[in-house]
Amino acid sequence: MYHQVRRLCGVFKIYTFTEMSEQNIKTYTLEEVSQHSDVDSLWLIIHDDVYDVTKFASEHPGGVEILLDWAGQDATDGFEDANHSLDAREEMENYKIGELCQEDRGKQIETNDNNKW
Ligand code: HEM
Repeated sequence: MYHQVRRLCGVFKIYTFTEMSEQNIKTYTLEEVSQHSDVDSLWLIIHDDVYDVTKFASEHPGGVEILLDWAGQDATDGFEDANHSLDAREEMENYKIGELCQEDRGKQIETNDNNKW
C-alpha cells in the first residue's frame, strides 16, 4: 500500500497551496505597470495588487480624472484616502489582473511629476 501511494505521488505531483497560488497568479514589474497610464489602458497598483481599470474608469463614482492621476503607479494612498466602502473593495476584485513582483514592492517608479494634488 505504502509503495502504491508513493508511486501515485510520483505520477500525480501533489501541489501545496503556496505552489498553486504561485502558479496561477501573474506578476508584473513596476516598469510594466507604468506602460499602462492612459484611458486606452489604465492600470493601478493597490496594496501590491495590479488592477486593469480601463473599462471601469468611466463608471468610477470618484471620476476618471483621479484614476488617470495615478495611472500606471501605486495608487494605494489615494485609494485609502478616499475611504472606499466594502462594496467598492469587493468590486475591485473584478479588475485584478495580478500582483506586483516581490522585487518592486515598496519602490516607486521615477517620474518628473511630483505634484499630484
Ligand atoms: C479598482 C479600483 C477602484 C474601485 C473599484 C473604486 C470604486 C469606487 C466606488 C464604488 C466609489 C463610490 C463610493 C464607495 O462605495 O466607496 C468610489 C468613490 C471614490 N473613489 Fe474609487 N475606486 C477605485 C480606485 C480609486 C482610486 C485609486 C482612487 C484615488 C486615487 C479613488 C478615489 C475615489 C474618490 C475620491 C471617490 C469619491 C468619494 C466620495 O465622493 O466621497 N478610487 N470608488
